[in-house]
Amino acid sequence: MFLIKHMFNFSIVTPPLNHRKMKEAAVQNNQKSNGTPQKNEKKEGLFDIFYNDIAIDLGTANTLISSKRNGIVLSEPSIIAFDSKGAPLCFGNEAYLMHEKTHKNIKTVRPLRDGVIADFEAAEHMIRGMIKSVKKKWYSTTRQMVICVPSGITQVERQAVRVSAENAGAKVVYLVDEPMAAAIGVGLDVHAPIGHMIVDIGGGTTEIAVISLSGIVHTQSVRLAGDRFTEDIINHFRRNHNLLIGERTAEKVKCEIGSAAPLDEEMEMNLKGRDLVNGIPKTISITSREIREAMSLSIDSVIEATMKSLEQVPPELSADILDRGITLAGGGALIRNLDHRITEVTDLPVHIADDPLTAVVRGTSAVLDNLEYYKAVVS
Ligand SMILES: Nc1ncnc2c1ncn2[C@@H]1O[C@H](COP(=O)(O)OP(=O)(O)OP(=O)(O)O)[C@@H](O)[C@H]1O
Ligand SMILES: [Mg+2]
Repeated sequence: MFLIKHMFNFSIVTPPLNHRKMKEAAVQNNQKSNGTPQKNEKKEGLFDIFYNDIAIDLGTANTLISSKRNGIVLSEPSIIAFDSKGAPLCFGNEAYLMHEKTHKNIKTVRPLRDGVIADFEAAEHMIRGMIKSVKKKWYSTTRQMVICVPSGITQVERQAVRVSAENAGAKVVYLVDEPMAAAIGVGLDVHAPIGHMIVDIGGGTTEIAVISLSGIVHTQSVRLAGDRFTEDIINHFRRNHNLLIGERTAEKVKCEIGSAAPLDEEMEMNLKGRDLVNGIPKTISITSREIREAMSLSIDSVIEATMKSLEQVPPELSADILDRGITLAGGGALIRNLDHRITEVTDLPVHIADDPLTAVVRGTSAVLDNLEYYKAVVS
């Protein structure tokens, strides 16, 4: 049985990685601002002190939760660990540290794959655990919950997300499409009669959308994003170096030296893995050029999908995109020189969102803060 991805999202990163640090910094700073106009913000009523409503970005790689009072309160990998009897042990950062290092009594599960919830039960446990962990500090209930969902999901999947959120304690659940949330999060005026193109490259899906007048004019959801780039790196070393490396190592390589176009100064690093021929651990030296080549086919597919979307945009909106360019969000936007590579192919200006990993939750949280102002974008 499988459900949708975006109910509550998490992140997959090891402590030394840049994006992990960025997300942690966001949590520490309790960022509530999102660069969007705070219009029609409702004044707090007398009884509102008993409530702390939340916004959730449930991602394939990372889950982020933002609360109305406290800003971003959780940003952790979307992963959960179970014991041999199937009881949840821990989730998020703690479970990520165990990932691929477990013995037979512990199993780690990433409940979301390719942007959908592939393991419903594990997802529910993870979501509940995350919400419980943030609510521990509040002593207040959640009345409203805004959750972002991939634009391409079915009505049945939407309903499943809603039900899970209600099971997790929400009285009223609103859903917002992920590219819309990303656009709001990066500060675009989604109500204006102006075409904005946003490309959100997450862990499991790349969402490409053109937004105008509070609606999604065109959308394409491609099940190919950061996780695939990581897999490409694993496959490259297995095929060409007989070296087996784990997902976390490959992700670290991608974040540290991955690029989409040549760098001013190419980089090098050491890579540890297991020699597939003699089974012995070994270290090899690798370059950013090699990693770029390993990921190039998948990166080209993302760019091709963007081109395909551009071809389908109505002409007046194309003109807007020509003037304003394309905005990149999601962790994939952090791949070095991806913006340059897209400009090279499309001839359009490309902007990387500030803190692209938190763009979606900031947008979702802006919707929660201004439900009246954003009523046209929720369902
Ligand atoms: N500095 C970086 N360089 C390259 N990739 C990065 C970097 N930081 C994060 N990523 C990648 O970004 C992806 C996670 O991005 P994000 O948190 O936006 O995804 P998600 O919202 O969980 O996934 P989805 O939206 O597909 O469900 C991971 O694949 C991660 O490896
Ligand atoms: Mg996402």
